[in-house]
Amino acid sequence: MPSDDSFAELLSAIQSNSQRHLDDLVEWLRIPSVSSDSSKVGEVHRAGHWVLEKFQAAGIEARMIETEGHPFVFAQTPAVEGAPVVLVYGHYDVQPAEPLADWITGPFEPTIRDGNLYARGATDDKGQALTHVQSVCEWLASGKSLPLQIKFLIEGEEEVGSANLERLLPELADELACDCVVISDSGQYADGQPAITYGLRGIATYELSVKGPSQDLHSGSFGGAVMNPAIALCKMLSSVVDADGVIQIPGYYDRVQPLAETEREQWKQLPQTDEKFAAGIGVKELFGEKGYTTDERRWARPTFDINGLTSGHQGEGVKTIIPALAGAKLSFRLVPNQDPKELTQQLHDHFTANTPPGVTWTLVEDHVAPGMLANFDTPFVEAANVAIEAAFGARPVLIREGGSIPIVTRFQEVLDCDCLLLGWGLSDDNAHSPNEKFRVTDFHRGIEASARLWHEIAKRAQ
Ligand code: BES
Ligand code: MN
Ligand code: MN
Repeated sequence: MPSDDSFAELLSAIQSNSQRHLDDLVEWLRIPSVSSDSSKVGEVHRAGHWVLEKFQAAGIEARMIETEGHPFVFAQTPAVEGAPVVLVYGHYDVQPAEPLADWITGPFEPTIRDGNLYARGATDDKGQALTHVQSVCEWLASGKSLPLQIKFLIEGEEEVGSANLERLLPELADELACDCVVISDSGQYADGQPAITYGLRGIATYELSVKGPSQDLHSGSFGGAVMNPAIALCKMLSSVVDADGVIQIPGYYDRVQPLAETEREQWKQLPQTDEKFAAGIGVKELFGEKGYTTDERRWARPTFDINGLTSGHQGEGVKTIIPALAGAKLSFRLVPNQDPKELTQQLHDHFTANTPPGVTWTLVEDHVAPGMLANFDTPFVEAANVAIEAAFGARPVLIREGGSIPIVTRFQEVLDCDCLLLGWGLSDDNAHSPNEKFRVTDFHRGIEASARLWHEIAKRAQ
């Protein structure tokens, strides 16, 4: 355990090396590790190797764990007798960068503007994951031994559902054994208001393909004689949710727990207004399920979305056809207790009951993961409160978030550990969107908070 003096030395070393920390991130962000793109397998691999080499250069024991898909990077510092073990989880894969024309500078040409670093993966998740890597490298470079054991699992398939990690987790359980998983892959509540996240929504994604005639038809000669698959698709999709944002699939809400009044009260105290939230995303008004606040809808109510739609003529000008095919990519956000597998059956039955005549369809399930709730009455949360307050200048608030990290509930079950979600991102960081960014100061504060966290956790375990 370092004295406060030597801890101050570590903090000043972190400050003096801040340019190098940023340069490292820029290098990592240049690698287009889009996990869903089969033409980028080599790049995804290269991004994994980049972090592997970073660990090895710092003298940290690290190796690649190969899978049927993209490999995981596993690293660990030496065990410390009597001290807790934490596992840092993160991902080096990123979402596709399209639409490319909307980027001010190229998604894989990291660029700083107005104190923000712009690139695909800047906040989700290379920038956030790297804060923990840098903090541990700094601890070791300072010549001090870490006061606890830190393991890292940085994977390459989070953005495509983590199926290989889910499959391999039981086999890896001994190696990954820990008291707490630490994840920085979420956000602060608002600018100036850091947060600790104790809940995430789950997810179920599908592809619905509707088929009509054997080929596209002239809409003059055939309009009125056949069902148009694009219209059929629209009707099927609109049957899923009503005008008040309530999902119409029979049984969909059966397992949804009502929100606790205490939780609702706490969230109402949070410093965000609908007006500010709406302005930040460029809409005049917000929309969601009636009877709930924006945060309640985003964090603790299940939802339905269309993520992509395709049918008919997409090129310039008019082409009067009845398309042969129509397709949609769908996602549902789930809350804890809802079973994604059960939803697949319910959705299938719902579409069967709502299919217009004259078309056939297929429904393919893609990624599914349940929602997560973590215990927030733990020494890890206390340690994080202190570490974050010192680095970000404000005490974190406890929140839930609406996004999904598919593997987290499996960590809780298989590793039987606590879970600490410390997000350094901001809600206007444009994750999954054009012009994704990470604020440079948040990157540096994240490194400082991480370095302090190891110190604070070890202190509480003495
Ligand atoms: N980092 C996000 C998850 C997240 C987003 C947590 C916002 C908290 C707030 C993660 O990389 C992600 O995007 N997950 C996907 C999972 C899906 C592709 C299976 C998601 O939520 O859409
Ligand atoms: Mn992420
Ligand atoms: Mn993501």
